[in-house]
Amino acid sequence: MRKSNQSVTEVISLKFPQTRFQGSKYKLIRWIHKSISDLAFDSVLDGFSGSGVVSYYFKSLRKEVYSNDILSSSYITSQALVENSFTLLTDQEIARLLRFVSYDDHGHTVEKNFRGVYFTQDENIWIDSMLYNISNLEGEYKRVLAYWSLFQSCIIKRPFNLFHRKNLSLRMSNVRRKFGNKVTWDRTFTEYFTKFCKQANACIFDNKRNNTAINCDISLIQGNFDLIYLDPPYMKSRRSKGTDYQDYYNFLEGLIDYENWEKRINLKKKHLPYEIEKSAWIDSELIYDKFSSLFEKFDGILVLSYHDLGFPSIKDLTELLHSVRKNVRTEYLEYQYVLSPQKVTKEALIIAK
Ligand SMILES: C[S@@+](CC[C@H](N)C(=O)[O-])C[C@H]1O[C@@H](n2cnc3c(N)ncnc32)[C@H](O)[C@@H]1O
Repeated sequence: MRKSNQSVTEVISLKFPQTRFQGSKYKLIRWIHKSISDLAFDSVLDGFSGSGVVSYYFKSLRKEVYSNDILSSSYITSQALVENSFTLLTDQEIARLLRFVSYDDHGHTVEKNFRGVYFTQDENIWIDSMLYNISNLEGEYKRVLAYWSLFQSCIIKRPFNLFHRKNLSLRMSNVRRKFGNKVTWDRTFTEYFTKFCKQANACIFDNKRNNTAINCDISLIQGNFDLIYLDPPYMKSRRSKGTDYQDYYNFLEGLIDYENWEKRINLKKKHLPYEIEKSAWIDSELIYDKFSSLFEKFDGILVLSYHDLGFPSIKDLTELLHSVRKNVRTEYLEYQYVLSPQKVTKEALIIAK
């Protein structure tokens, strides 16, 4: 096994697009790289891959990467940007994807079900048309690149960049605003889609390894990995729920399951979420046992991204890690929020080998 001899500058010049995925480690890659540069490993599991940026970082280090997430939209992201080494979307394909399909030919699931929820009716029809075009695109990697570009276009046009509320009215109301959000929300889907297709194309490369995207609950992953990187949903306290990514990104999950989407919409909730079985990682009653069984499950080096204010505490997790590994150390990074500079918290990386 080789230690990484790539310089930090080489690594952070990675061309991964800066997405607005909740909890993305995009801005922490340089620090993560510094913190683990003494570790020797060749294969790596990114168990909670989210935006895919950490998997992509490992790919840029020429590791054999396994990128897993319970969200199908994150799986598609990893297929498009991590597993895929060669496929790009041509200008002609992008133009064809953007061509409006005759109204009677495409489906109407978004237009019919989501009036006034996330996007305007014209935008809903644009999405229905785009989904028809994606389904007719030849080649799986081409399709996932198009889906990824559609996900990013939907996310950037949403207040808070999430789908956890019916709040189109927030975007449409005529009020004075502090930030330039309104301009961002109102740019067209066509403009964003084209931009994201180009960004995706620009970051595809071959690291001469077979990298694999996986879509399952972390507890079901089989296999041996030299290093296991874990970045589970954040939980603030025993009394709170962990970040519910399945709710935050429910709309993207629906986009991929277009044929069945209508049957799975929860009509009892105003934001009409696409319902899926909930991850146990948002349940404070189960969380400690989940960590414990995860740490026991794997043999390789464990690297856990955490937060000084998280529940369970770093102290409790460190004790748990001491029961399965000889060496446990924690690196910290003070982190200041852009929108509230008075708020300083600490990111932690717990490394156990
Ligand atoms: C904090 S985010 C990961 C962020 C990621 N490291 C990045 O930089 O973008 C946590 C991720 O865990 C995923 N997740 C939640 N429960 C899961 C489970 N049981 N198995 C696998 N992934 C899960 C969520 O879908 C979410 O993408």
